[in-house]
Amino acid sequence: MAFSPKHLLGIEYLSPTDIITILDLAETYVQLNRKEQKQGGALSGMTQINMFFENSTRTLASFELAGKRLGADVMSLAVGASSIKKGETLIDTAMTLNAMNPDLLVVRHPQSGAVNLLAEKVNCAVLNAGDGRHEHPTQALLDALTIRRAKGRLHRLNVAICGDIAHSRVARSNIFLLNKMENRIRLIGPQTLMPSGINKFGVEVYEDMNEGLKDVDVVMMLRLQNERMDGAFIPSKREYYYRWGLTAEKLAKAKKDAIVMHPGPMNRGVEIDGDIADDINRSVIQEQVEMGVAVRMASMDLLAQGLRTHRTKLANI
Ligand code: NCD
Repeated sequence: MAFSPKHLLGIEYLSPTDIITILDLAETYVQLNRKEQKQGGALSGMTQINMFFENSTRTLASFELAGKRLGADVMSLAVGASSIKKGETLIDTAMTLNAMNPDLLVVRHPQSGAVNLLAEKVNCAVLNAGDGRHEHPTQALLDALTIRRAKGRLHRLNVAICGDIAHSRVARSNIFLLNKMENRIRLIGPQTLMPSGINKFGVEVYEDMNEGLKDVDVVMMLRLQNERMDGAFIPSKREYYYRWGLTAEKLAKAKKDAIVMHPGPMNRGVEIDGDIADDINRSVIQEQVEMGVAVRMASMDLLAQGLRTHRTKLANI
């Protein structure tokens, strides 16, 4: 099936067919990743550079493994937050790396829009690994694959996204994806953590968790993004947990077979009760991590196929 995007910058720019193409290919990588021999050759001979201007554990590890399993030469650069000087520095760094002829550039940056800007300047395929509060496309894709596997479908589901929506790129990307696939989305959280212009998102908004969770199929929890808050958005952590933390009592309002998700890293006892996070009958948090590697392999495989086709065309001109 044709997959035409040159970069993976956000779910906003993908069609439902693009999304399904990535997820279907990811399924084959889930199988490969469960074998002892995990090598695939889709990126053989290619160079992948991971440029992370913000801390990351699972996303960086996941992209690194994904590239290595597909046979790429992978280099990861952790650029400390303190060394960011915005704008020019980012582009300068990118241009320097671009001169080394990478094929794939995976970028995480604290400023919204930074990765789109960078993609305009380089010759390779760029994957957004999270930019500010804008988008985190591979997270939404791995969430979608997890949901599809648990629920058997990715449409007409009631999905609650709970907590710090305003500062969350995970929420934004998931809202785009779940809307494109025709699901019903509820956003639950304090008014102070709802983005402005929320009415444009095609969602229902709830402040009361007990009301919002009623009969949902999927409960997606979010971390409080303290690093993106410039003031007090919540009364106290204790109060927040009392009203918006996921407890067994609140979860009982959802459907009996509702799944619980969290992108990690989790603050146990702040946004989610530790026992629920560990409950293998409800929580799919570990599956999300597993799906993350497969989805990143599929995304890079498809972008690499596009690169090869483009290069062949150029060579024949
Ligand atoms: C998320 C991120 O970085 O946006 N984490 C992740 O990628 N696993 C969510 C978060 O930091 O809360």
